[in-house]
Amino acid sequence: MEEITSLLNDTLARVAKAANIAALEEVRVGALGKKGVVSEKMKTLGKMTPEERQVMGPALNGLKTQIAEAIELRRAELEGAALDARLASEKVDVTLPVAPSAMGTIHPVSQVMDEIIAIFTAMGFDVAEGPDIEDDFHNFTALNFPADHPAREMHDTFFFNPKEDGSRMLLRTHTSPVQIRTMMSVKPPIRIIIPGRTYRCDSDQTHTPMFHQVEGLVIDRESHMGHLKGTLEAFVKTFFEVDALETRFRPHFFPFTEPSAEMDVKYERVGDEVRIGQGEAWMEILGCGMVHPTVLRNCGLDPDEYQGFAWGMGVDRLAMLKYGIPDLRDFFAADARWLEHYGFDPLDMPNLATGLSR
Ligand code: DAH
Repeated sequence: MEEITSLLNDTLARVAKAANIAALEEVRVGALGKKGVVSEKMKTLGKMTPEERQVMGPALNGLKTQIAEAIELRRAELEGAALDARLASEKVDVTLPVAPSAMGTIHPVSQVMDEIIAIFTAMGFDVAEGPDIEDDFHNFTALNFPADHPAREMHDTFFFNPKEDGSRMLLRTHTSPVQIRTMMSVKPPIRIIIPGRTYRCDSDQTHTPMFHQVEGLVIDRESHMGHLKGTLEAFVKTFFEVDALETRFRPHFFPFTEPSAEMDVKYERVGDEVRIGQGEAWMEILGCGMVHPTVLRNCGLDPDEYQGFAWGMGVDRLAMLKYGIPDLRDFFAADARWLEHYGFDPLDMPNLATGLSR
């Protein structure tokens, strides 16, 4: 009897000490398993005298039940604690701000597009878009490219197969066709920028078959070359984040503007680095001009009533210049390491209040 009491106390103490389900299971097997101490004791009942058995039988059964109950109780306790721990560790506070270590980066082209849009929308411009697949009328004819004019060749156009009527669709060679689409559908005053993809059959360190432009168009009754200069100078100073940036306008030719110009900015090359806004060299940044009267007429606008200015610039080149990226082809190589290095924080949207870039 004494033995049974000490076995009970000993086993209950080990049940209480079991720190997890596995340890508890070990205690259970050691006591109640086939070869466990309680089971072994049960086997001795057969060899006892009936009198002995009458005492020991109920005692051993009581021992077995008490131990089994203690184990079940402890199991419930341990399972409850394990669940509590898991719930605590998996708790998500949905009111907390998003983790600041977001995955992935913003491509420099997207970043620069967003910067340009932030600058011009702050000046009061709207954003317009148009199709990548264009027809000859919007891409060339309405923009005053004469039929068979070499300027059409200049653009190294990607054409689609001819349709039944002989006309061919094309991948737009510039964002200028969206000027036409806007002037034909919106009554002036018009103040838009047109970001988008453009295509020319060309590939080297500074040219890729697909590239990006942002076009600008202002049409109203009195806009003039001075407005053009002021707008574009304000833009490049803000974009390159150099207040003293010097610019110059050089006469140029575009069929859709008259007069036409290219705008240059002062820069200096120091080793491999291009520093915009210092030095004595000039670098071309964009093409611009006063919208040609023929283009206005082609869009149903009377050039005696309306006039305006336009410009177009290469976004990829602006990104290379601003962020010191040497080869344009890497922009489209989809190399994760390149993106890791040149990409931008997705949570840092460019804006004029907190800064365009960081
Ligand atoms: N479309 C021209 C190009 O791709 C760029 C351009 C120049 C656009 C002058 C304009 C402009 O709107 O006025 O080369």
